[in-house]
Amino acid sequence: MISIIVPTYQEVENLKPLSEMIQSALQGREYEIIIMDDNSQDGSVELCQELAKTYPIRIVTRTEDRGLSPAVIDGFDHAQGDYIVVMDADLSHPACAIPNMVDQLQSGESDFVLGSRYVAGGSIDDSWTLWRYINSAVATLPALPLTRVKDPMSGFFAVRKADIPQRKDLSPIGYKIALEVMVKGDFKKVSEVPIHFVDRVHGESKLTLSEQLKYLRHLRRLYQHKFKTKAEFFQFALVGSSGFIVDLVVYLLLQMMGLSHTVARAISFWPAASWNWMLNRVMTFNHREKSRKSTQWGAFVTSSLLGFSVNYGTYYTLTTYVPFFQEHMIFALVIGVLMGMGFNFTISNLFIFKKLRDEISDESAKR
Ligand code: GDD
Ligand code: MN
Repeated sequence: MISIIVPTYQEVENLKPLSEMIQSALQGREYEIIIMDDNSQDGSVELCQELAKTYPIRIVTRTEDRGLSPAVIDGFDHAQGDYIVVMDADLSHPACAIPNMVDQLQSGESDFVLGSRYVAGGSIDDSWTLWRYINSAVATLPALPLTRVKDPMSGFFAVRKADIPQRKDLSPIGYKIALEVMVKGDFKKVSEVPIHFVDRVHGESKLTLSEQLKYLRHLRRLYQHKFKTKAEFFQFALVGSSGFIVDLVVYLLLQMMGLSHTVARAISFWPAASWNWMLNRVMTFNHREKSRKSTQWGAFVTSSLLGFSVNYGTYYTLTTYVPFFQEHMIFALVIGVLMGMGFNFTISNLFIFKKLRDEISDESAKR
């Protein structure tokens, strides 16, 4: 049996055409349509009761934790079928692709099948403006390292029920539920089937700017999940580079205010190190324990001072004892910076931003 999960919010006009489209696409197959509705109060419930006389459809009304992704995740629990399909209600996703998607799961040809606009044979609605196209392309780009699919933004997918990650491993932030399941499920065989994406005719899009901003947080979490320490190191380095700019600006400003360069140099370290600490707390290590600010700041600044000694010590040693670096001092500088940053990162990662218990138990479970 195929369970088709459809998240909805105020889609009453689309429910009948949706049921018809699915019915004609899935003739001869056993299926159920589960409407996961966020208490739309637009007559969807009454209409579904009516439609249920003709189609295998039911509606689940949700009153808490509104949102597309949480609705879909709840839908997984309601599904009775071995095969799960998730699609939009607004007729954007062609139901005629479902048989092919499910067949690929059944034959073992694929473990996760995505309806894709950007593979050969797929297309988008003619009405798409260049602006909308650029928007979609820009949003797609940062998701590419996470999967190998061409259309990671798609919300149309099929997967075996048994392969869905556990609820506790899914973080339903934002609306990219396909991306979430794809990355967390770590599927061996992922495939894409071409779809023609049709723009909605009835109702309007529910995707607000705030939903789109959640996408950035979602991406960060997925990078964290997939690349672990590498993702943390990358962010740490990014923060460090921004801190270098703070250092430089303060150093120059203080001199403009009449301070000597040595005093300016000694002072500018502090705002820069504090800046780094703050950003690492709210970004790089925001999934770690929220220790007391003053203690953590102190530890971070101390580590930064030690890191600078490592940086300088490396530079000094290389340029004093290694002839190569005496001629190419810039390389010694770069190696020093990297060593210093490596030192800082290690200390921060191991001691300053403490892991929460569930992160530790996750790691030992994987080992
Ligand atoms: N339960 C519930 N709660 N459903 C919601 C909510 C919500 O808060 N917000 C949106 N939905 C439902 C809509 O009713 C619709 O069935 C589906 O989710 C998609 O919402 P749209 O408002 O039509 O979004 P879209 O067309 O901009 O986005 C679609 O296309 C994107 C690719 O361009 C979705 O399929 C996205 O998942 C997809 O990434
Ligand atoms: Mn839509």
